[in-house]
Amino acid sequence: MQQHTIFEPYQLGDIQLTSRIAMAPLTRCRAVDSNTPNPLMAEYYGQRASAGLIIAEGTSPSPNGLGYTNIPGAYNELQAEAWKASTQAVHDNGGRIFLQIMHTGRIAHANNLPEGAAVVGPSAIAQEGKISTYTEGRQPYPIPKALSTAEVQATIQEYVHSAKLCDQAGFDGIEIHCAHGYLPNQFLCPSRNQRTDQYGGSIENRCRFVLEIVEQCIKAIGANKVGIRISPFSYADSQDDPQLMVATYQYLAQQLNNLGVVFLHLSNMGEWNENKAAVWPSFRQLFKGTIIQCGDLDLNSAKELLDSQQVDMVAFGRDFIGNPDLVERFKNNWPITERNKEGWYGPDEKGYTDYAFYEAN
Ligand SMILES: Cc1cc2nc3c(=O)[nH]c(=O)nc-3n(C[C@H](O)[C@H](O)[C@H](O)COP(=O)(O)O)c2cc1C
Repeated sequence: MQQHTIFEPYQLGDIQLTSRIAMAPLTRCRAVDSNTPNPLMAEYYGQRASAGLIIAEGTSPSPNGLGYTNIPGAYNELQAEAWKASTQAVHDNGGRIFLQIMHTGRIAHANNLPEGAAVVGPSAIAQEGKISTYTEGRQPYPIPKALSTAEVQATIQEYVHSAKLCDQAGFDGIEIHCAHGYLPNQFLCPSRNQRTDQYGGSIENRCRFVLEIVEQCIKAIGANKVGIRISPFSYADSQDDPQLMVATYQYLAQQLNNLGVVFLHLSNMGEWNENKAAVWPSFRQLFKGTIIQCGDLDLNSAKELLDSQQVDMVAFGRDFIGNPDLVERFKNNWPITERNKEGWYGPDEKGYTDYAFYEAN
């Protein structure tokens, strides 16, 4: 049995985690009935409760934020009630669970949205490429409707409402998704945000949307229940001036520190690059709370990262899909099930809840 600080209990705000290992948020597209969580999802999360912390999949705070097919929402009472089965399953098995709040913004298509919802963004600038839709195959991303100032503020209130519903549903907290090019990330980047009101232009103005979300969610449910995920220089920021983005992220980290968010979750997607190398270590100085790092880690690199004291926790994504008992496998040096993309996104239990727990002989 391996001994290392990675396997020791960790105090996150006012909750104690069984280890420093988090399960990263993973969109699995199983909310097949009106974007509402279901018993299959509860079974899946319950199976993975031995993670120190589960950060459950990107979930929309608004009908406008349901850009992908069959992703869940957390904006109405029905959804909040349905999420209770997942939080209960995790808590019954001794785990802790946050929910990631993800508004897709311009990464969306009208065909994926419910009646009355719209593809929105900070400015009327389309994402490049194509997106899968329910009934029209793969389609180019549309030009989003630029939110008016009043609509930006209404969107912030949608996050607050969602935070309260998550609390009601029994989540230990929420993670604001400000990474990977979704709505808050769109506000950060001048290539997507060309607004002339208080939500665009200067660094302070481009960070205002996400900081107001964080501040007001903290007011609603408490600082120990609000974390945030960012992904500096992981492909989504590639069109913007690196110097400006370094300054943007450093300002953001400082302000998040002042607001007292419980964790800052750094997502490393795509190539490691010189911009990341330049800015990531500075977060340790700027942010005094818990730092989680995710992306392309294995047990050894995760331990090294913790030993370097650059971060407090590590998160794994793809390996939690095929290994519900990932922490036990790590602890015991048991083999890790290989990654298999089939079933990542799909309607049913195949590639979702049918991965076996390791059985030692
Ligand atoms: C199937 C799949 C779904 C994902 N969904 C989300 C998501 O909803 N929110 C998010 O922030 N990241 C999402 N990610 C990124 C993961 O959280 C994680 O950052 C990524 O898999 C890298 O970590 P890993 O190398 O340990 O897999 C997803 C990744 C995969 C493979």
